[in-house]
Amino acid sequence: MKAFFSIAAALSIGLLTMNAHANGEATYQAVCASCHASGANNAPRVGDQRKWAVLIREGQARITADGYVGVRAMPARGGKPDLSIEEFASAVVYMANQSGGRWSAPDAQLLAAIQREIDKREKSLALKTKK
Ligand code: HEC
Repeated sequence: MKAFFSIAAALSIGLLTMNAHANGEATYQAVCASCHASGANNAPRVGDQRKWAVLIREGQARITADGYVGVRAMPARGGKPDLSIEEFASAVVYMANQSGGRWSAPDAQLLAAIQREIDKREKSLALKTKK
């Protein structure tokens, strides 16, 4: 009985992980590919390993937060305001891993780190618009 439950648990964790990957790709196709497949407006093109190597070195939490808040010609959340941090981060993982990266789906610890980076950026944006 115990063995049955641990097998069931392992299976459902496996399915959840597969799901997260599928979502990253689906979000990418639905929201991000319009710019990132072609590299329009200098968007880092998916598959361009040279460009992505720089971003990958910068780090998962930082570039995910940059994109989520918006940076230069990159619209906040890719222009889809209802995307959750997790959905956005999964799309970034998909993009990085198509471009030479080996990032994992965001876990609770990484999501917290992304949230801290987002807070920093939003604070400095608020300061800028105040004056
Ligand atoms: C309207 C076009 C457009 C869409 C849609 C778009 N991006 Fe971008 N993205 C850009 C551009 C342009 C840049 C480059 C910004 C720069 O560095 O000047 C960029 C940069 C980025 C970066 C790098 C940020 C950094 O730190 O330099 C990430 C990560 C990113 N996008 C993720 C995404 C994800 C994930 C989606 C979909 C949910 C998405 N983008 C949708 C245009 C777009």
